Amino acid sequence: MQLELLKSIPTNYIGKHIYYYDEIDSTQLEAKRLARNKLPNGCIFLANNQLSGRGTKNRIWYTENGKNLTFTILLYPNCSMEHLANLTTKIAHCIIKAVYDLYGYNLEIKNPNDIMYHGKKLGGILTESATIGENISYLLIGIGLNINQEIFEEEIKNIATSLKKEFHIEFSKEQILMEFCKIFEEEYEKIIK
Ligand code: BTN
Repeated sequence: MQLELLKSIPTNYIGKHIYYYDEIDSTQLEAKRLARNKLPNGCIFLANNQLSGRGTKNRIWYTENGKNLTFTILLYPNCSMEHLANLTTKIAHCIIKAVYDLYGYNLEIKNPNDIMYHGKKLGGILTESATIGENISYLLIGIGLNINQEIFEEEIKNIATSLKKEFHIEFSKEQILMEFCKIFEEEYEKIIK
C-alpha cells in the first residue's frame, strides 16, 4: 500500500486520519475495539491483509494479502437513525461512481450491499452502529472491494471476482480509496444535514 499517496486525500475529514495495519484480524473488529475512545471523526482502519474478515450474516470475508481494499470508516454522526436509512445502498453508489469516474467501468449493485459485475460479487459493505438510547454513539462502515486478486478460494471462485479479473488491467487501490472517500464525504454531508 502506498501510504504516502493517501496523505493527499482531497477530503475534509473522511480518510484524513488512517490507521494502517499490515495484517489484522478484521478492520471492523479493530474499529469496534477502539471506537469508544473518541477517535477522529471519519478516520479509517485500513488493512493490507485481514486474517478473519467478516461479511454480513457473519459470513467469512475472503481477501488475498495485499491485493484488495479492506477498510472500515469510523464516524460519529450527530443525527437520528432515520437519516441513515438506505445508507448502505448510498455507499454502494459512491463506490460505483468512484470506479466509473477513474476508469470508466460501470459496475452494478445488488441491493442492499453488494457490488457486482456480470453476476459475480466484486465487493460488499457491512454497516454497523452502536446506540445509546436514541442517539448513535458511532457508525462503522466496513468495505471490502476486490481489486487486483486473480485467484480465488475454492469456496467462492464461482461467485466472486475482482476488477482485474474482469477488466484485465492493474487498478490503483489508493486512487480508488481516495476517490471513494471524496464522493462519499459529499454524500454523507447531505445525509446528516
Ligand atoms: C458483505 O458481506 O458483503 C460485506 C463484506 C464486508 C467486508 C469488509 S472488509 C473490511 C471490513 N472488515 C471486515 O471484517 N469486514 C469488512
